[in-house]
Amino acid sequence: MKKIACIFFLTSLFVFVVSCETIEIQAPPSNLPISSDIKPTYTWLVENVFRKHCVYCHSGRPPYLLSYDSVQTVVTPKQPLTSRLYFMIATGRMPKGGKLNEQEKWAIYHWIKNGAKND
Ligand code: HEC
Repeated sequence: MKKIACIFFLTSLFVFVVSCETIEIQAPPSNLPISSDIKPTYTWLVENVFRKHCVYCHSGRPPYLLSYDSVQTVVTPKQPLTSRLYFMIATGRMPKGGKLNEQEKWAIYHWIKNGAKND
């Protein structure tokens, strides 16, 4: 019985330590080369990122990325590092089963940084 308690304790400790590991969210590198057709605006993101990589899932579940109001529920304007949208793509959790390139992540970061406007 003691042995079981001990195993249980060690397992809990391990799970606790692993879950405490902090996830660093970083801004895109400031020297990233950005081609001129990349625009950090909501319209550009809808056409080039959300429609291509996200809406085949997010038309059935929130955030509905084609709706500006819905996107507002996952961003804090001017605060990309604490915005859920940036967190999900910076940590690679979204797009689930896919991947965004560095320029697409840059555009999302800077759109939020510039105030996440309906532009
Ligand atoms: C294959 C399906 C799929 C794709 C593609 C996908 N998502 Fe998701 N998304 C999900 C699921 C499922 C969840 C629920 C949380 C989870 O399972 O991680 C989610 C959750 C989220 C959340 C968090 C919502 C909340 O309220 O916590 C955000 C933000 C998000 N996705 C953004 C995106 C973006 C941006 C893209 C495209 C770059 C994308 N997703 C592509 C399936 C997908």
